[in-house]
This record gives sequence, C-alpha cells and structure tokens, in this order.
Amino acid sequence: MTTIVVANRKGGCGKTMLSLNIAGTLASQGKRVLLIDLDPQGSLSEILHRYPDDVQRPISRSLVSGHLEGALTSTAIPAIDFVPADDELSDINHGLDPVSRRTIRGRERLLADLLARSEDLVNGYDILVVDTPPDTKGELTSTAIVAADLIVVPIDPHAGARGAAADLITLADELRSFSAHPMNMALVLNRIKMQTGSYDLQAAEAAMEAFGDLACKTIIPSWLAYPKAAEDGLPVAFVKGADFTKANAIIKELMGELDDILDGELGVRS
Ligand SMILES: Nc1ncnc2c1ncn2[C@@H]1O[C@H](COP(=O)(O)OP(=O)(O)OP(=O)(O)O)[C@@H](O)[C@H]1O
Ligand SMILES: [Mg+2]
Repeated sequence: MTTIVVANRKGGCGKTMLSLNIAGTLASQGKRVLLIDLDPQGSLSEILHRYPDDVQRPISRSLVSGHLEGALTSTAIPAIDFVPADDELSDINHGLDPVSRRTIRGRERLLADLLARSEDLVNGYDILVVDTPPDTKGELTSTAIVAADLIVVPIDPHAGARGAAADLITLADELRSFSAHPMNMALVLNRIKMQTGSYDLQAAEAAMEAFGDLACKTIIPSWLAYPKAAEDGLPVAFVKGADFTKANAIIKELMGELDDILDGELGVRS
C-alpha cells in the first residue's frame, strides 16, 4: 500500500479538496482506496456524511491504542473506505492522550505504527490518502508525514503560501529520522485563474520557478466543478457532465506525475 499525505499549514489552500479527488480519481482508475480524515475540523467527514457515530472505534482511540479495526466505514463509492475524524483528534494534535491527558510518547510514529500493526487490514487497499489539519506545529501533520510515501502540498500562490510550503519542507526534513519511508514531496499549485497573463498565473509561474523540481507541472485551475461535486458528497471523477470530466482530467494528469515520482507504484502512468 502506498501512503499519500496531503498537508500544508495554510488554511483553505485545498488539502481537503485534493484528498477527496486524489482518492476519487484513483478509485475511478480501479484502485482500492482508504481515506483518513485526520483534521479535527472534520471537513472531509462532513463532505462524505460519515461521522464517529458510524464507527465502533474513533480514529483518536485507534492512534493511541494501535488498533485500526472498527475505525473504518464505507462511502457512497464502493472502492473507497473512510475513517472519519472525531473531536478528540484535537487533544492528539496537542500531543495529549485524550483518556489519560498525559503526553503521548513516540507521537511522531503514531500513524506509522498503527499502519504497521494493522498490516492485514491496510493491505486490502492499494492506496491510503490522509487529509491533515491546517496546523503543522500540531502533532497530527507530523505523524501523518512520518507515515508518508509521498507528501502532496497544495499551494495557493498568493501571499504567505510560499512560506508555508517552505515550512513544510523544513518540517519533513526534521522528521526524516522517524521515518522508514522515502517521504517524497510534490507541491501542487491550486485554485489558479488560468486566463493568460492573469495575476494568478504569474504568481503560479513564479512559485514554480522558486520550487524547481519539487513543483508539479500540473496546475489545478479554479473551477466550480470541485466545490460543486463536494457539495454532493462526491469527487469529480464520480459526477457526470463535461465540467466534471474536465476537472477529473486535471487530477488524472496530476496522478500521472505523482506516479512518476513514486516510480510507478500507483500503477496509473498514462
Ligand atoms: N481548484 C479549486 N477550484 C475551486 N474551488 C476550490 C479549489 N480548491 C479548493 N477549492 C475550494 O476552496 C475551499 C477551501 O478548500 P479546502 O477546504 O480543500 O482547503 P483546506 O486546505 O482543506 O482548508 P483547511 O486548512 O481549513 O482544512 C473549499 O470551499 C474548496 O471547495
Ligand atoms: Mg481541510
């Protein structure tokens, strides 16, 4: 199983949108996907209408107990299973065990160890996609990054976004010693108004130049299809209509690039 973690401390840059659509496009390409909402805000859980009441064990307990059984639920898409967020994730984000209120030891490896202990369960999936909160000082982003084969960083190229991406690169470097994974990184320009000469496009091009090989060539345009599909609880790959097909084609192109970074591990190279 390949683990893709979507992260950036900047709020509203498209982490949840991209998590949902990476999962959706891969599922439409015949992959079995497990999607985890590690954000205490639970935006992805709201989009998918799946909540802690739908599972026997909330993810916050799974992380501290090391057992993933009972934390999964189905979604409207048969190829995607989901682990919803719960409120106690915010304690974990502050490094606290929600039950004992003590500092959790070895918190950098909470997710990596959980996945290693749940090998039989997770091996039923080709890909794990993890959505994270907008707070890289918190523990949840760190524990997700340590488990990642690939960290995907959506970037909104306006003020402050480049700094946030640079912070994430530093964080990943600091965490490298906790990881047994390659922790590849890909920056993705998102929500770009694509009109020739637009401020967005200029800012996107400047950001891509600044980040060199770390930046993907695929740019995700600012298109209503993404929020519209999410409103219906779906990734664009599973909505009929020309706009959604076009929006899915962009994510597909991105998946081809990510597959190249992962040396074909995703098995979707075009
Ligand atoms: N490419 C896009 N085109 C149009 N709308 C987009 C695009 N990407 C994201 N959005 C919209 O922008 C808003 C913020 O995106 P999203 O919730 O994915 O960001 P986030 O990084 O997960 O935010 P947070 O940090 O709060 O978790 C959402 O309403 C989403 O639907
Ligand atoms: Mg989000």
